[in-house]
Amino acid sequence: MNASTAQSKRMSKEYYYPTQIYFTDLAAAKTLNAELKSHIYAWRERDPAGVVRTNTPQLGAWHSPTDMHVKREYNTLTAEIFEFMHGVYDDLRYDQSFEPVCDSMWVNINPKYSYNRHHTHPHALWSGVYYVQAPSNCGLLCFTDPRPQAQVLTPYYDQNNRRMETWNEIYYQPQAGRIIVFPAWLDHAVQPNLSEEEGQAADRISVSFNFYQRRRGAGPNPYRTEVVRQDLAP
Ligand SMILES: [Fe+2]
Repeated sequence: MNASTAQSKRMSKEYYYPTQIYFTDLAAAKTLNAELKSHIYAWRERDPAGVVRTNTPQLGAWHSPTDMHVKREYNTLTAEIFEFMHGVYDDLRYDQSFEPVCDSMWVNINPKYSYNRHHTHPHALWSGVYYVQAPSNCGLLCFTDPRPQAQVLTPYYDQNNRRMETWNEIYYQPQAGRIIVFPAWLDHAVQPNLSEEEGQAADRISVSFNFYQRRRGAGPNPYRTEVVRQDLAP
């Protein structure tokens, strides 16, 4: 037995302060995305100015208003997102007397060359994204290490054998039909869309949303546009 094996036999390791990123792929995404696309482009026609947040309207990007979660035509997607968020809250063993509540949901259409600056989502516990259309090279979703102190001195790693929990940056490839959920405080950005498709086929279309908790049975906060799962019933 060499020294390093002997050392590992005596060594225990525990993880604290983990940063969870959840994801899933919706089974019926193809049909759903075709419907969503027609509603989304019609919405942009009606409201071409949209709103400006972390996107790049100077490059043709469009950010919808943030009330998508109360629009009936998006109920199927909103219900899927609620189903997933209930799973996240159960996994985290949140107090069952509170339930997931959504107060904002919106679309980003990022045409070629557009991107989203680094940002977090204030006034939320969890945020997420759903991809309606994601052509090749349309921009990776990038999360950065939320511990600035961990960057003061970065070690040299064996790059062929590096543990994923030591990564300082994480990149997710957008994929149509995929939901990705992350802590709202986790810094993230979207890289430029370098798709080689033509016209609308080059658009990166994503839906974003914010969730927090509300005590079951409590009415909505009058200052926010809150929706819980039961509110989606037709
Ligand atoms: Fe974001």
